[in-house]
Amino acid sequence: MAQVVFDAVWKRFGAVEAVRELSLEIADGEFMVLVGPSGSGKTTALRMLAGLESVTAGDVSIGGRVVNRVAPRERDIAMVFQDYALYPQMTVFDNLAFGLRRRKVPRTEIERRVGEAAQVLDIGSLLQRKPGQLSGGQAQRVALGRALVREPQVFLMDEPLSNLDAKLRTQTRGEIRRLQLQVRTTTVYVTHDQVEAMTMGDRIAVMNDGVLEQVGTPEALYERPANRFVAGFIGSPAMSFLEPRAAASLGLPRTDAAIGVRPEHARRWRHGLLGPLHGTVAYVEALGRETFLGVDVADSRLVVFEEGRAAAEVGERIEFGLVPEGLRYFDPESGRAL
Ligand SMILES: Nc1ncnc2c1ncn2[C@@H]1O[C@H](COP(=O)(O)OP(=O)(O)OP(=O)(O)O)[C@@H](O)[C@H]1O
Ligand SMILES: [Mg+2]
Repeated sequence: MAQVVFDAVWKRFGAVEAVRELSLEIADGEFMVLVGPSGSGKTTALRMLAGLESVTAGDVSIGGRVVNRVAPRERDIAMVFQDYALYPQMTVFDNLAFGLRRRKVPRTEIERRVGEAAQVLDIGSLLQRKPGQLSGGQAQRVALGRALVREPQVFLMDEPLSNLDAKLRTQTRGEIRRLQLQVRTTTVYVTHDQVEAMTMGDRIAVMNDGVLEQVGTPEALYERPANRFVAGFIGSPAMSFLEPRAAASLGLPRTDAAIGVRPEHARRWRHGLLGPLHGTVAYVEALGRETFLGVDVADSRLVVFEEGRAAAEVGERIEFGLVPEGLRYFDPESGRAL
């Protein structure tokens, strides 16, 4: 196992600054999720750690050793990509054993590692099948198994679940997390899905346009987002914002800042809330157990939360209020949390 450190790391592709001065320490045994929108530099950061991409400036280290000039195979890492390709003509066992055989690992050791991985991943009964005879989820587990049998210092995963359907994705993300807690191998996991990030990471690093916006536990990012970008990215539905002008026109106490409101902090009007505010229902998202109402107020749209099924229709005027202690304030210019 090993600590991983990015120390002021840059990556330029010609004029494109894919990663800009990334500094991030990942503790030994930690599960770190890199999350951010498309093009934010997540894969580039991971590929620099893997040695598949050179570093323009700064240092990447694994286990206390700067690896900038160390070849990928010497870094003792194992990667799982979105497009994991299993060898179709080989059995599952041979797929798992392939990399170890190439590294001249003794046969008894290969059998031990494959056996252990098969047990952890619950694919013991599939070892003699060919990939074409597996379901998507089973094939995904075999791909994970291939990384697992390497017993590396660090696991690197780049959107490994994005080929799976929603139900299988939820299930497999639980399995990966359980697995990692069991083996405690330092893991860097890339996703653009904030739900995946929130449910899997010990900590989450939020990237935007090559810049690390914030790193922290899921709770910290949810409760204390450092800026509007993180506030709007983490949470589902996301935090919505009342611009200062709207806040002023509504008679809210603070009008020098954009006010960030999570859905659970905007509720139908009752005493004890801040308000009442009035707005027009723009959309109704009824999920059964809960309903989210998009409500237009002045030049802003807030998401209002209701338990169960809401009795509201698009175009209707509703009265609602805000939970004062849930509100977050952001600088209208820089977007920084105040
Ligand atoms: N080989 C390359 N040559 C030129 N530009 C590149 C190269 N690889 C990546 N980029 C650019 O670097 C930026 C970051 O790309 P990267 O693949 O790291 O993003 P990402 O966060 O992984 O996005 P996604 O969620 O879409 O996978 C993008 O603007 C991308 O176009
Ligand atoms: Mg990517």
